[in-house]
Amino acid sequence: MKMDQGSLIETAEELYESAPCGYLSTLPDGTIIRANQTFLTWIGMDRQDLVGHTCFQDLLSVGAKIFYDTHLTPLLRMQGFVNEIAVDLTCTDGRVLPVLANMVQKGDANGRPMVHRITLFNATDRRKYERELLLARQKAEQATEELKRLNETLEERVTEEVAERLKAEEALRQAQKMEAIGQLTGGIAHDFNNLLTIIVGNIELLQRRLPEGSDRLQRAATHAMEATRRAATLTQRLLAFSRRQPLDPKPIDVNKLVAGMSDLLRRTLGEVVVLETVLGGGLWRSQADPNQLENAILNLAVNARDAMPDGGKLTIETANARLDEAYVEVLAEPVPPGQYVLVAVSDTGSGMDKATMERVFEPFFTTKEVGKGTGLGLSQVYGFVRQSNGHVRIYSELGEGTTIKVYLPRLIGSDEEPAEMPAKNPAMVRGMGETILVVEDEPDLRTYTTEALRDLGYRVLEAGDGQGALDIVAEHPEIDLLFTDVVLAGGMNGRALSDEVSRRRPGLPVLYTTGYTQNAIVHHGRLDPGMHLIGKPFTYAELASKVRRMLDGDHL
Ligand SMILES: Nc1ncnc2c1ncn2[C@@H]1O[C@H](COP(=O)(O)OP(=O)(O)OP(=O)(O)O)[C@@H](O)[C@H]1O
Ligand SMILES: [Mg+2]
Repeated sequence: MKMDQGSLIETAEELYESAPCGYLSTLPDGTIIRANQTFLTWIGMDRQDLVGHTCFQDLLSVGAKIFYDTHLTPLLRMQGFVNEIAVDLTCTDGRVLPVLANMVQKGDANGRPMVHRITLFNATDRRKYERELLLARQKAEQATEELKRLNETLEERVTEEVAERLKAEEALRQAQKMEAIGQLTGGIAHDFNNLLTIIVGNIELLQRRLPEGSDRLQRAATHAMEATRRAATLTQRLLAFSRRQPLDPKPIDVNKLVAGMSDLLRRTLGEVVVLETVLGGGLWRSQADPNQLENAILNLAVNARDAMPDGGKLTIETANARLDEAYVEVLAEPVPPGQYVLVAVSDTGSGMDKATMERVFEPFFTTKEVGKGTGLGLSQVYGFVRQSNGHVRIYSELGEGTTIKVYLPRLIGSDEEPAEMPAKNPAMVRGMGETILVVEDEPDLRTYTTEALRDLGYRVLEAGDGQGALDIVAEHPEIDLLFTDVVLAGGMNGRALSDEVSRRRPGLPVLYTTGYTQNAIVHHGRLDPGMHLIGKPFTYAELASKVRRMLDGDHL
C-alpha cells in the first residue's frame, strides 16, 4: 500500500503540541501564558486552568521553588538563559516529575525582558539511572573496601602461616637431630655395654685369682672395678637417652612414688633448698618403670639444686592433665592427644636462655664445668619419658626459674594395683608419743589422718572446727603440733585458728593441709614465709615424714 506522503507532514502547531518535551512560555513574573499538550498531560491539568492563572514556580516542588528564587531567576537575569537545570515538578495528583529545564529570556527592542521560553525534558529515567549508578558506585566502593580489608588480613594470615610452618620445620629439625644423636649414642652404648660385661667378668675373675697378700694388686683391681661401674652407669644413661634401655613398666601411683622419695630428695637438696610437694587429688594411675621415673625426678631435682646455689625452693607437683589436639599438633614428636599424669618439677633458680633450652636434652650438653656435669641427666629424662610414650616440656625464665613438666600416659582399665615403692627409712619417721591436734572438718579425712598418726606412734586429739580446737588447746598444754586444714567450716579458717592458737601457745608449730593450690595461704605456689603445707591428698609416707620434720624442728 502506498503511503500518502502529505498525511505524514506535521504542521508546526502539531510539532509544538505533541513534541516529546514540555514547552512553556511565561511572563517575567512566571505567569504561564502558553503551554503545549505534552506538558499539560505530564502535569495533569486542563489548558484553561493553567494558562493565565498559574505561575511556573507554583508547579515546582518546595526545594525547587527555593532554588528557582535564589539561583534560577538571578542567573536568567544575568546571562539570559539557563541550561539543563534539574528541578522537580509537582503534578496535580501529587506525583513528583523530575525534569531538566532549559530557559531563555526574550526581550523587546530595548532589551527589556518580555517573555521566558521554557523547554522541559522528562528526566524520570535519567534520575533512575543516576540513582542506580550512584548505588552501584557505592556498592563498588564498599566491595573495594572489603577486598582491601581482606587483602590486609590475608597478608597477616600468610605471615602467621609462614611463621607457624617455620616453627614446625625448626621443631622437626630438632627432632631429627635428637633422633640421629639417639641412633649414634644408642649404637655406641650398646656395644660398650657388651664390652663392659666382658671387662667386669674378667676383673672379677682376676680378683678371685689374685694371691693372698697382694694388696697393691687387689687395690688396682678394685679401682678398675669402680671405674667400670661408673662406665656402666654412663652407658646406662646413654641407653636411656636412645630409648633402648630395658624398661620394666608397671602401673604406678605417681603421688606415692613422689612422696616416697621425699627423704632421698631432702638429703640430695641439702640445707639451702626447700622442698615442697603438691600432690594432685584423685590422681590417675600411670604406667612406667618406677625406678626410671625416680631416676628422672632425681635428675630434675639435682639440676634444680645446681641452679640454686644460694638456696631457693623446689616444688614437685602432680596433677591430672589432658593434652588436646591443638597442643600435640605443633609438637615435632608424635604424642597422642589424651589423658596424662603430670609431674612438674619447678625451681626458683637461674633459669636458662633460649639457646640453652634448645639443647638441654642432647647427651653431653652441659653448661657445668668439667667434672661437675656429664650432660646426661636430661637426656635420661627425655629418653625415658619418650620410651614410656610420654612427653616432656621445659618452661624457663632467665633469672626466675625453671619448670620441667613430665607427662606420662594415664593407665586405663587394668586390675593391677599400683606397684608399692619400698618405703625409705620408715624407722626414721615414726612418732615418739608426741601429741598432735588434728583440725579437719571433713570426717572421713579426719579419721584417716588421726588413724595414720596414731599408727605412726603419736597421741592424737581432734576437732572438727576452729572453736572446738581452741577449747582443746585450753585444756591440753601438752600439745606439740597443730595440724589444720586451711579451709574450715564454722566461720574460722585455718589461718585465723593458727593466729589464735599462737597467741595462747607462742611457738607451737603449725602444719597446714589443703586441697587447693591457689589458696589464701599459697602465693604463686609458694607459701607465706614460715608456713608449712602438706597438699591433699597426702600419703601415709608423706604425712609421716612431714610431721616428723615439723616436730624435730627440721623445717626451721
Ligand atoms: N633446672 C635448671 N635450671 C637451669 N638450667 C638447667 C636446669 N636443668 C638443666 N639445666 C641446664 O641444662 C644442662 C643440661 O642438663 P643435664 O641434666 O642434661 O646435664 P648436667 O646437669 O649438666 O649434667 P649431669 O646431669 O649429667 O650431671 C645443664 O648443664 C644446665 O645448663
Ligand atoms: Mg643434670
